[in-house]
Amino acid sequence: MKCLVTGAAGFIGSTVTRKLLDRGWEVRGIDNFADFYPRAMKEMNLSDIVDREGFELVEEDLVRCRLDTLMEGVSGVIHLAAQAGVRTSWGTEFRTYTDSNIFATQRLLEAARGGSVKRFVYASSSSVYGETQQLPLSEDVPLLPLSPYGVSKLAAERLCRLYWKNFGVPTISLRYFTVYGPGQRPDMSFHRFIKAMLTGGSFRIFGTGEQTRDFTFVEDAAEITIAALAEGSTGAVYNIGGGNRISLREVVDLMAKLTGSEPRFEFLDFEKGDMMHTMADTTLAGEELGYSPRTGIEAGLEAEIRWMEKLVEREGR
Ligand SMILES: NC(=O)c1ccc[n+]([C@@H]2O[C@H](COP(=O)([O-])OP(=O)(O)OC[C@H]3O[C@@H](n4cnc5c(N)ncnc54)[C@H](O)[C@@H]3O)[C@@H](O)[C@H]2O)c1
Repeated sequence: MKCLVTGAAGFIGSTVTRKLLDRGWEVRGIDNFADFYPRAMKEMNLSDIVDREGFELVEEDLVRCRLDTLMEGVSGVIHLAAQAGVRTSWGTEFRTYTDSNIFATQRLLEAARGGSVKRFVYASSSSVYGETQQLPLSEDVPLLPLSPYGVSKLAAERLCRLYWKNFGVPTISLRYFTVYGPGQRPDMSFHRFIKAMLTGGSFRIFGTGEQTRDFTFVEDAAEITIAALAEGSTGAVYNIGGGNRISLREVVDLMAKLTGSEPRFEFLDFEKGDMMHTMADTTLAGEELGYSPRTGIEAGLEAEIRWMEKLVEREGR
């Protein structure tokens, strides 16, 4: 039981890796420590993992690394490596998105053809939906991404389906809805808001704050990712939401209560590419994978705040 986890030093990747090791899997983690956010944070994500038995870290770029040795002895793949972020996906940076999200996925799928891989789980995103349609969003509504990031995630999801249809690569795509919790990326709203509240700083909210999201706690996302690795239907696409649809304004109020601080923020224009509302219909994941998110927003935020306190202390040293 050896699993290749791509993006293993990242927010979701490190959480998935920790859980796989807990369950007796061997993990080969690959990450190129992309400079989208500080390496120190990724090292912090891996600090309790690097020395664990059964874990091997490969610091390489999926765009150009040798794949035969990477795939050697691997029976499962969880493909989380990507260039994340909606706002930075416009303009010249798009090349990073085509390289790390589309081309790297196609290379991995080629390498998984005819091999020993039993399941290949791909981390897709709610951003493939785009223009808000009737909520909750089920997997079969039209896909109209609003950002170049969403387009790149959808292209890779389509590639997964193509390689399953044509070459039997056992792919499964999980459309995660905004994931939060310990280890969250510094470009994401919760991270920015909590950090400002803990340090007496101010933060910016894009739009009116009335936009709503279906926030998913990272431990729930990681659990279901491993369930998909064990028993997902190949060729399937599953929504993974947290069952917590709440507006950004409400989140800020809750954070203020939990941190005991007076938030200072300003509103900026809506950013192009941002969706107004998201909410997942997780019926399929519930029926086929037994998915039922366990962590409510308040408990999840508490956990992220505790982690942020440690991060702030570390950064202050
Ligand atoms: N966080 C969310 O809310 C969310 C929501 C939907 C989908 N997703 C998807 O989940 C996955 C993980 O997201 P995350 O929030 O943990 O992001 P993250 O940036 O923390 O993790 C991604 C990791 O991949 C690595 N990476 C990037 N390009 C690489 C390459 N070419 N070769 C090797 N490693 C590379 C990065 O260094 C990083 O450590 C991504 O595919 C993302 O699109 C995340």
